[in-house]
Amino acid sequence: MIELAPGLLYRPGFFDRAAQEALVADLRTAVRLAPLFTPRMPRTGKPFSVRMTNCGELGWVSDETRGYRYQATHPVTGEPWAPIPDLAMKAWKTGGFHAPPQACLVNFYDAKARMGLHQDRDEKALDAPVVSISLGDACLFRFGSTSRGGPTKSIRLESGDLVVIGGASRLCFHGVDRIYPGTSTLLAEAGRINLTLRRVDTP
Ligand code: SIN
Ligand code: MN
Repeated sequence: MIELAPGLLYRPGFFDRAAQEALVADLRTAVRLAPLFTPRMPRTGKPFSVRMTNCGELGWVSDETRGYRYQATHPVTGEPWAPIPDLAMKAWKTGGFHAPPQACLVNFYDAKARMGLHQDRDEKALDAPVVSISLGDACLFRFGSTSRGGPTKSIRLESGDLVVIGGASRLCFHGVDRIYPGTSTLLAEAGRINLTLRRVDTP
């Protein structure tokens, strides 16, 4: 583990190619149960450039009327989310938290998608880390301090890399500036999948 900042840990190549392929197969099953949807910004309704789904007892969703929130069912189908894949649970263990994750947000970035700088702060259990898994094309991941507008640094995340956002960096600003299309052969289509495992309620 490489410490990028206090509590912000980076483990390149956590998943080998075989594990990445197995995880993608699990995600294809999960997406059949709970299809990708396009979240919308609170108030404005502006669509995100990523499409997403979730695994687990809770999923993160957002729309113009009810804003950012966790809920037990898919916002379009009303059905429960698929279970969190075992391989993703293995990644969660590196975070060292004593209770299991409740949500695994699955973001799909096409070649042009990005994610603006933000904090993950919709969880009550802020002592639990957020554990992130990257699959497919590489991206430029940016992180800063816990205050908006502070200095930031960037790293390139590759398929199979793990990032643990915890401790003093749990509320750090972070985002994805760009995808590098064609840098991985893992997915049939260009793009990147990011999984973030989250504990929502205090155990
Ligand atoms: C997120 O912050 O939800 C996603 C981060 C990433 O795609 O690496
Ligand atoms: Mn985030």
